[in-house]
This record gives sequence, C-alpha cells and structure tokens, in this order.
Amino acid sequence: MGVKLGILGLGTVGTGTVQLLQNSGFRHPLLQEVEIYRVGVRSLDKPRAVTLPQTVVTTDLEAIVIDPKVDIVVEVMGGLEPARSLILKAIQNGKHVVTANKAAISRFGDEIFSAANEAGVYVMLEAAVGGGIPVIQPLKQSLSVNRIHTITGIINGTTNYILSRMQTEGSNFSDVLADAQELGYAEADPTADVDGLDAADKIAILASLAFGGRIKLEDVYCEGIRQVSKTDIAYAEKLGFVIKLLAIGKRMTSSPPISIRVHPTLVPKAHPLASINGVNNAILVEGEPIGQVMFFGPGAGAGPTASAVSSDILNLVAALQTSTSVPNPLLTCAHQDYCQIVPMAELITRFYTRFLTKDQPGVIGKLGTCFGNHGVSLESIVQTGFQGELAEIVVVTHDVREGDFRQALTEIRTFAGVDSIPSLLRVL
Ligand code: NAP
Ligand code: HSE
Repeated sequence: MGVKLGILGLGTVGTGTVQLLQNSGFRHPLLQEVEIYRVGVRSLDKPRAVTLPQTVVTTDLEAIVIDPKVDIVVEVMGGLEPARSLILKAIQNGKHVVTANKAAISRFGDEIFSAANEAGVYVMLEAAVGGGIPVIQPLKQSLSVNRIHTITGIINGTTNYILSRMQTEGSNFSDVLADAQELGYAEADPTADVDGLDAADKIAILASLAFGGRIKLEDVYCEGIRQVSKTDIAYAEKLGFVIKLLAIGKRMTSSPPISIRVHPTLVPKAHPLASINGVNNAILVEGEPIGQVMFFGPGAGAGPTASAVSSDILNLVAALQTSTSVPNPLLTCAHQDYCQIVPMAELITRFYTRFLTKDQPGVIGKLGTCFGNHGVSLESIVQTGFQGELAEIVVVTHDVREGDFRQALTEIRTFAGVDSIPSLLRVL
C-alpha cells in the first residue's frame, strides 16, 4: 500500500467511494496502491453501510488533514465550513485534495486554488459537477485545445426530475415537488436545487474551465423553476418546445465577452438537451474546431459520484508515482484573472411571454406596436384562449436585447387593457 487517503465524510459519496476502493478488482490496478487510512465523521455511533477498522474512523477531522502520513485528503463532507478551512489546512500541510463540494469551490475556489498553486499540490473536483459524468478532466485536457464558445447544461437532477414529471403528467410544480421529497429525490429544504443555486455553483465551475478565467459567483444570473407553471409547459409543448432548467456559459465577440446564467428555458424539441429527462444530467460543449460534444449520465448518487471521486484519486496516485517538482499543468487550475461578464440587460436572447388581457379590439395591435417601438422583433403573437374573462396572449420574440424587451414590458404593464404578465421565459 503506497498512497494513504484521509477521507472527510462517510455519507452518500464517502460510503460509495469506500465501497468502490474496497472492491478494486477488475478496476485500474493503480487503485490497489490506495489505503483508506483515516475517515472522518460527525458521529461514531451511526450505523454504516461499510465496515472499517475502529482505528480508521474518527471525529477529529483536523487531525486527518495535518497527519504527516496522509497523502491525499478526500473532502466529501459538503457544506461551506468547516469544509473550506479543512481543505485549506490540508493544502498548507502539503496534501493533494479531491473534493465533490461545488458550493465550496464556486465560492472559495480563488482562495483554494491560489493556496494549492503556492503549495505545489493539486485540487481535483471531477465529482463537483455532473456526478458520475466525466466533464472536468475533459474540459481541462481533451477539449482544451478547442476554442470553447458555449457550454449548456442540465446540471441539476432534482429540477430536471420535477420538470420532466410536470411535462409528462401535466402536474403543478408544488405537487411534484412534494412527491419528489417523499421519494427522496428532492431534499427537505429544496432551495438550493429549485432556486437554481446548485446549478449556478456548477456552471461557475464549468465556465471557469471552459473560458480560462475565474468567475465570481455573484456574477452568475440565477432564476429557479418555482414560477414555471403547467400552463406554460402546455403552451411550450404546442409551440414545439420543452422547458428545462439550463445553465449556460457563452463566449461572445462583444465586450464584455462572457455571459453566464441559469434559468428555465424553452428548448426546441429537436435540440439534443430536450430529450434529457428525469434525474439525469447532460452537458453540451460547443467549440472550434470540435463542433458539438455532449456528455450525458447520472448527475448524482453514491456509485456515479464515487466513480468521479475515485478517478481523481487515480490521477493523483499516478502523479505521486511519477512525482517531479514541476506540477502537471493539465491537472492544475492556474487561472489568475476574472472573466468579464455581460450584464443581463445586454444579453441577446429570444423570449416567450404570456399576457392576460381584456378581450377587446386593438390589444394585440398595441402590444405589437410597443414591441416594435423598442426594437423587439416578434416571431409569433397569438391569442391562445381564455382564463375566465381574460384573454391569454402568447408572444415569442426573435433574438432581442434583454434590456429593450424589459423596457417594452414596463410600458405594456401600464396599458389599460393589460391585466397581468404571468410568465416570462427565455427561449434557446
Ligand atoms: P452526506 O450524505 O450528508 O454526508 C456527509 C458526511 O460528512 C457524513 O458522513 C457526515 O458525518 C460528515 N460530516 C458533515 N459535516 C461534518 C462535520 N462538521 N464534522 C464531521 N463530519 C461531518 O453528503 P453527501 O451527499 O455524501 O455529499 C457530500 C458532498 O458531495 C457534498 O459537497 C455534495 O454537494 C457533493 N455531491 C453529492 C452528490 C450526491 O449524489 N449525494 C453528488 C455530487 C456531489 P455523519 O455521517 O457522522 O453525519
Ligand atoms: N442536488 C443535486 C442535484 C445533486 O439535484 O442534481 C448533487 O449535485
């Protein structure tokens, strides 16, 4: 046994990783070099799905990260603190780190990677985005010879599960959420998933790798799925779209050059991401000269995430065996500068919007004229039906400047014939 692991956390991901490493036959032979030397948990009394010697399991996580015998610290405890401090202490003590913690990396990546580069150690994070899907190493290595211009992902399984069921069953968001919580797909506190925050953490990480610069999490525009209604899913379907929570990073020719955002989006049914359903994740990478590459698979779960964590461990075991004083630039994250992000008002995108109006002559004409006055070109404008006394009008635009579209809406809200604007979604 050559390489000693200190694992912080023995929950879903920690347990899956221990199971994979304890059963290493017919996997890469280098995994047999790995010793599960220490595992840190909160409670020693909890029943565990894996058997480990009593001397291995401890509640003293600090002792693990400063132990001179530990070569690699695997942080799978989650949360911001003490995860951040333990990662930093591990780095200061010369340990390589593997983490699945997108929340900590998207907020403290700057501090963590600067410390790692200074200490000459690696911080690996394959499991932080897309669970079992290999996407971090492909972006760092195989795809890095391309000029990546767009990365578009369904990178939150919970919201994809909820939207898929709303689509197939015609159900309401709140009913499906309650069911998903009962089935264990959604957490008791679903905020991070349904409000898009988890996807924002993940696209910040992917965009940083794709565009070669650090991303401030507060620059990521984020809208969740709570406001997506079964009515809009039904209209989208009639118009040839499905609604997905997309995380999008895009490099443009304008300045500032990068747009980065998470929001529910109407996706044309023929688009490769439209058929990704349930808890699955998929990430579409577009670049030159490669064209389109799509990564698809399980975005969470013990086994898939353990696969990603263990692939990082494998890379580090190989690096330790061929140790040179020069770090391998294909394993490091050495970005120094921050990406400049386009304000949402400058974004060029298509919109879908639904109006409730009085059913009287001239309303559609006034809407069309107002959009035209603000330079907003419409692809279609149709009266789709009624809600009680009110007429329902659905508008789909061509590519427009978001600021112009919003100015038009501000004016339209003042029209006497317009009751409300219940939905506003972007179109891919
Ligand atoms: P989890 O099931 O809640 O497990 C967390 C583990 O860490 C538990 O063993 C817990 O100890 C331990 N722990 C937490 N805080 C601790 C503290 N302050 N001191 C000591 N031990 C502590 O979490 P998980 O689902 O495995 O997720 C771990 C990380 O992987 C998170 O960053 C998550 O975002 C990421 N991730 C998870 C998945 C997934 O499918 N679950 C997928 C991709 C990424 P006890 O067992 O004693 O309570
Ligand atoms: N909560 C996440 C999701 C799983 O629903 O995709 C871990 O990243």
